[in-house]
Amino acid sequence: MLTDKLVVITGVSSGIGKALLLTLQKEGCIIHGIVKSEEKKKSLETELSALLSSDAFSRITIHVCDLRKTSEIEAFAQDMHKLHCSPDILILNAGVGFYGPHEELSAKDIAELTAVNFTAPLLLTNLFLRDLKKNKGHLLFVSSVTATKTNNTHGCAYGATKAGVSNFAKSLFEEVRKYGVRVTVLAPDMTQTDLYRNASFCASKDTDASLVPEDVALYALLALTAREGLNLTEITMQPQRHRLECIKK
Ligand SMILES: NC(=O)c1ccc[n+]([C@@H]2O[C@H](COP(=O)([O-])OP(=O)(O)OC[C@H]3O[C@@H](n4cnc5c(N)ncnc54)[C@H](OP(=O)(O)O)[C@@H]3O)[C@@H](O)[C@H]2O)c1
Repeated sequence: MLTDKLVVITGVSSGIGKALLLTLQKEGCIIHGIVKSEEKKKSLETELSALLSSDAFSRITIHVCDLRKTSEIEAFAQDMHKLHCSPDILILNAGVGFYGPHEELSAKDIAELTAVNFTAPLLLTNLFLRDLKKNKGHLLFVSSVTATKTNNTHGCAYGATKAGVSNFAKSLFEEVRKYGVRVTVLAPDMTQTDLYRNASFCASKDTDASLVPEDVALYALLALTAREGLNLTEITMQPQRHRLECIKK
């Protein structure tokens, strides 16, 4: 069903993005993944070439694009269009997290949160929406359970970026549904990834108290393979138990 679909995924160097890449390559998709730096591209390509057959590896292209920079996002879209690469599926996954009492966040943290988590998904959508309309494509936004909460203590700014992106995605569906474009919001709870590298807590290592990236990839696949005419608008994923792990600093 997804064989030869052209997929663009942001943030494929780790966590949920890498799980999405590996899941969709198994489905036969042609994947264009975005990473932030040349170093990340090199190490991901080395890892993938060791893991996959040469045929499977040849269907994956890794692009360097720092999503904090509008000029790099525009250049990426231009390059894709020059190569006649028109996405069927666009997955806005990349994100950053900065946590703590709001007055302790720096101006740089706030700028990065808004640029990567909010501006980049809106701009990439803007640059590829004509393709997605032409291809009757699918957009997936990796948002968060925090998007609908108003008690994101020590994560107010992060939660606000996710609320913005979820709200955008749901209105976008209303705008594009008549063109056959599907839009899905994935709203995971705490998942075992590196997202909490700047926090004093992280997801529990117990799988009844946290998700693993493959859980999110599985439900992304469910949305992408839903029968024609059915849109899974929002998928919320939560572990059975609520438990964080504290990191002693
Ligand atoms: N983990 C959770 O508990 C959780 C829960 C709900 C939602 N989410 C969301 O899930 C998404 C994926 O995060 P994750 O949990 O998988 O964490 P992760 O392992 O830290 O992955 C984040 C990805 O985003 C990329 N990225 C960050 N800044 C970038 C930039 N400026 N340009 C290009 N790429 C950039 C990272 O690349 P680099 O490594 O190169 O920086 C990385 O590949 C995020 O949107 C996050 O908000 C996560």
